[in-house]
Amino acid sequence: MTVPDEADLRAAVAEELATARADLARLVAIPSVAFPGFDHTQVQRSAEATADLLRGCGLATKIVRAGGQPAVIGTRPGPPGAPTVLLYAHHDVQPAGDADMWDSDPFTATERDGRLYGRGCADDKAGIMVHVTALRALRRTFGEDLPVGVVAFVEGEEEYGSESLERLLAAHRDEVAADVIVIADSANWEVGVPALTTSLRGIVNLFVEVRTLESAVHSGMYGGPVPDALTTLCRLLATLHDEAGDVAVAGLQHRAAAPLEYPADRLRADAGVLEGVVLTGTGPLVDRLWTRPSLSVLGIDAPTAAEAPNALVPSARAKLNLRIAPGEDPQAAFEAVAAHLRAHAPWGAQVSVTLDQLGAPCAIDATGPAYDAARAAFRAAWDGVAPVDIGIGGSIPFIATFQEMFPDAAILVTGVEDPYTKAHGANESLHLGEFARACLAETLLLANLPTRTSD
Ligand code: BES
Ligand code: MN
Repeated sequence: MTVPDEADLRAAVAEELATARADLARLVAIPSVAFPGFDHTQVQRSAEATADLLRGCGLATKIVRAGGQPAVIGTRPGPPGAPTVLLYAHHDVQPAGDADMWDSDPFTATERDGRLYGRGCADDKAGIMVHVTALRALRRTFGEDLPVGVVAFVEGEEEYGSESLERLLAAHRDEVAADVIVIADSANWEVGVPALTTSLRGIVNLFVEVRTLESAVHSGMYGGPVPDALTTLCRLLATLHDEAGDVAVAGLQHRAAAPLEYPADRLRADAGVLEGVVLTGTGPLVDRLWTRPSLSVLGIDAPTAAEAPNALVPSARAKLNLRIAPGEDPQAAFEAVAAHLRAHAPWGAQVSVTLDQLGAPCAIDATGPAYDAARAAFRAAWDGVAPVDIGIGGSIPFIATFQEMFPDAAILVTGVEDPYTKAHGANESLHLGEFARACLAETLLLANLPTRTSD
């Protein structure tokens, strides 16, 4: 095998960037939302567009389903003894939400000040384009003799919880088996500072319903001795945190994150916390964000304020989002919150708790030759700035599935997001300079992965 020349690879990536940007814009123009109620022919279109891109990289490509949205699998064997790398991304996107909140059309990739704006520009159509660009750059440099075997796996329902992913992986286990798995769906630490994500929280979504009355009754006639369900629900929700704002549910696991400093001012600015609003909880911010539970109320079903009559509300329902620490069992965490809610029912109200969605957390032992190669590639691509190991407070539950199915594989969680990306929000954007570095880093990584030692 020829020793890869970093300058050649850099030049090859640079040559590919204009095409990558144009292809990304074409993917962004397809509103591929996997949520129920959206036009799923668009998800099929984005699967086809993704398959065309991978086929163009010389991968044998097919579109597969296992009862959910279409995923794309592309394969290309490597030379004997070479490692096989699985490249993961997702081609579905979050809904655009209120179009008026966007400064440009969500499905027209629009450049402003070095950033490309549009739904999926980062999460995660840029992940697809990082993989495609790395493969194109490798082919420019190595011709048909790539130094690694490649499997691309691009799913079509990540934002809807990857419901059929386990079945897809099981059905295509032999095709997707790999020594190294690159999951390009996370974030870097700052613009100019790359990161490897080594822990993610799990997710437990649930509904809690409170009932106090058979039906609505006049608030003047009965208000006083008769509790309404909405006030009761609010009191119940208020028991979920202590005075300092830490989660007050007993039995949830806590861990310490890597000792990374996330300055409070930066967090406030990144999240857009309003002046005067204090940060909740105690302890290091990275622990509170990455390795401790958080519990948020996402929504409440109750009469709307504008239309509420003068009546006592008989029942009210809230949706809760619990994030759980790496190492926590999602089902056990759900039971802990459900037990807390039942035990704290105010005024004898009837409380019922139902599970909506569970997702596993994960922690990755990022040591070994593949991680060394990744760190070297990131450092080179970011002009000497070493990557930091970060946690993410969000969840990618199927990483745990990959860990179980391929226990010997090195899992590298990378990504193009930065603190200004606003994934899932209005004006989602990609920093084009960071995108170029991510493409170069993956190219250098694929060119420099150590050969397998276990054959
Ligand atoms: N890409 C995110 C995970 C993420 C969040 C990475 C923040 C980096 C920073 C992923 O697509 C996501 O949003 N996951 C969902 C969970 C899923 C089960 C719907 C989440 O965390 O809410
Ligand atoms: Mn996402």
